[in-house]
Amino acid sequence: MPEAPPHRRTAAAASLKLDDFESAARAVLPQSTYDYIAGGAEDEATLRGNREAFARYRFRYRVLASADRPDLGNEIFGQQFTMPVHLAPTAIQRMAHPEGEAAAYRAASAAGIAYSLSTLSSLSIEEVAAAATGVRWFQLYMHPERAVTTAFVGRAVDAGFAAIVLTVDLPKTGRRERDIRNAFSLPEGLSYANLESRRPGASADGPDPFAQNVNANTNPALGWEDLEWLVARTPLPVIVKGIVRGDDARRAVDAGARGLVVSNHGGRQLDYAIASLDALPDVVGAVGGKVPVLLDGGVRRGTDVLKALCLGASGVLIGRPYLYALAVGGTDGVRGMLELLREEIALSMTLLGARSLSELSQDLLTRF
Ligand code: FNR
Repeated sequence: MPEAPPHRRTAAAASLKLDDFESAARAVLPQSTYDYIAGGAEDEATLRGNREAFARYRFRYRVLASADRPDLGNEIFGQQFTMPVHLAPTAIQRMAHPEGEAAAYRAASAAGIAYSLSTLSSLSIEEVAAAATGVRWFQLYMHPERAVTTAFVGRAVDAGFAAIVLTVDLPKTGRRERDIRNAFSLPEGLSYANLESRRPGASADGPDPFAQNVNANTNPALGWEDLEWLVARTPLPVIVKGIVRGDDARRAVDAGARGLVVSNHGGRQLDYAIASLDALPDVVGAVGGKVPVLLDGGVRRGTDVLKALCLGASGVLIGRPYLYALAVGGTDGVRGMLELLREEIALSMTLLGARSLSELSQDLLTRF
């Protein structure tokens, strides 16, 4: 691919924090694409709430802890990662940059973290697998027809994906009013590369063309038996994404989930849903260390990552910030953004008095 135009490269280089990538991306993306990425459901209360929840915590830091060279390394599912941050699955990344998912995956791979590929990607499972060698997880929306789901899982196994991330908080697409207002649909020239009928007809309901497409490819009647069915049919660990309650967490683990993601889909599904960070302690308590618990939603700072880990998360996923970094700088943009976040985590660990992630505990936090 040709190099990014100079204004994009400059925008990426001038970013001092993750939020700077958002303003830089806004300047280069069409308004409707920016709104699709940035927006949430209805009043966007959950979208804001995810951020507000982080701000309610303060650190009770330790001093004289000799934490000048903190170790950010962590292990999940037997894989070693260089930091506890991974890339969340998000749809149609070629909306943000021509190289789309391949560029983002290359950045994750170079940074030593995992990349989650959405079912609704704009490059195929096989194309993305060929782009890099780092750890890749496949995010699954279960299709109304089980044969289609079985085919997805088989392709992910064959293409060397290390886990299936089953998203369970989208029986139907949430009401995203920015998209309705913009009559947002798949931009010309892009398609759902994994789906057989790449532009499914508007057979399903939904308030805008994009939601109709998504709804045609997800199963609104998904139940616990479907999770058991999936676990029984895949050799890969199944991570359930979209849990916000302890009882659901326990049920998912009983059904065979090997990991959980506490998530409200970045505030894009049920509005007024509990903030991810506020849901975390209940889920961690219910699971009792049986499986790793990850969190996503509103993670924008190294201190946010540390707060989630203090409350028992094994790691976090980030969504929007890497789409903005992808828009402004492709692979280099995402790499730069990840290095910024890594530096923030390392410095904050030093100031907090934590030498490794295992030293992070609730005792280091207070909430008001
Ligand atoms: C998403 N998310 C998402 N999740 C999923 O399981 N499959 C998907 O295809 C998508 N698509 C998607 C598109 C866009 C544009 C966004 C912003 C998000 C949700 C995503 O995985 C994650 O839960 C949130 O993005 C996390 O919140 P932050 O980091 O964006 O605040």
